[in-house]
Amino acid sequence: MILLDGAKVANERNLMLKDMIDKDLVKYHRAPSLSIILVGENPASQSYVKGKGKACKLVGINHQLYNLKDDVTEEELSNLIEKLNQDESVDGILLQLPIPKHLNEAKLIDLISKDKDADGFHVINQGYLYQKKPTIYPATPKGIMTLLKAYDIDVSGMDAVIIGRSNIVGFPIARLLMDAGATITVCHRQTKDLAYHTKNADILIASAGRAELVTKDMVKPGAIVVDVGVNRVDGKLVGDVHFEGVSEVASYLSPVPRGVGPMTINALMENTYELYLKHVQK
Ligand SMILES: NC(=O)c1ccc[n+]([C@@H]2O[C@H](COP(=O)([O-])OP(=O)(O)OC[C@H]3O[C@@H](n4cnc5c(N)ncnc54)[C@H](OP(=O)(O)O)[C@@H]3O)[C@@H](O)[C@H]2O)c1
Repeated sequence: MILLDGAKVANERNLMLKDMIDKDLVKYHRAPSLSIILVGENPASQSYVKGKGKACKLVGINHQLYNLKDDVTEEELSNLIEKLNQDESVDGILLQLPIPKHLNEAKLIDLISKDKDADGFHVINQGYLYQKKPTIYPATPKGIMTLLKAYDIDVSGMDAVIIGRSNIVGFPIARLLMDAGATITVCHRQTKDLAYHTKNADILIASAGRAELVTKDMVKPGAIVVDVGVNRVDGKLVGDVHFEGVSEVASYLSPVPRGVGPMTINALMENTYELYLKHVQK
């Protein structure tokens, strides 16, 4: 089994990005800038935001963290987003999800200017994606595609099975894999017999958020398995794939942690850089 080492690939790409940003700093006289909005004190979100801030520092992106109280009103959060939309020194805006239930997540995401949508979640950017037009891709699916490419994995003609159909992972990765030539099956909680589908997969993307849902008996020998899930069990991070068992049958497998997570952060850095170029080259 070959480990899909997201931490290694992401680090290499971040260093390349740093070189590009260093050069652009001389050319455009300013660094890219990302504003991160965190609502409340969810420890998992705090840790993701910390990781994103660290990556910004590494690649040379200026970042500002807005940590709002968890009782912030929708109006206050909307005002902050509007202010950042207007601010010409801001290239990217990221609203760390999930946000408290009293806030309308979809509405707030769409309030972020589509030209500053570093996460690629805006309805218009997702619309471009589904119409195969150039756009900012959602960070996790983009990171997965980059990881596969780094290992010279060509999915064309493969049967791809995706567990999960969320707007930020399952559905867009299905689209990108389909565009890359794979034949797609998307599974979810109403799927009658999950193992029936997963056993046919040449490439399996596990993004259900259920600890060790995918076991060895559910994987076809030689399959490529990408584990997106991040679950905390007894204080430890585990994926949606039972790593030890599945590593005995898979040809490629991404670990958790150090798999898709760092690739997602790298994709976010690359998205912010893309937005920056559009702004400085205007
Ligand atoms: N590594 C990273 O960078 C990264 C980034 C984003 C997310 N994640 C992780 O990836 C996982 C998924 O994230 P998400 O935002 O897509 O989660 P989500 O919005 O909760 O979606 C989960 C999806 O999985 C499906 N599902 C849940 N349990 C299932 C089961 N037993 N069998 C089949 N399908 C099942 C759900 O089906 P229904 O639609 O029927 O409810 C839903 O479509 C989470 O663990 C999250 O933490 C990791």
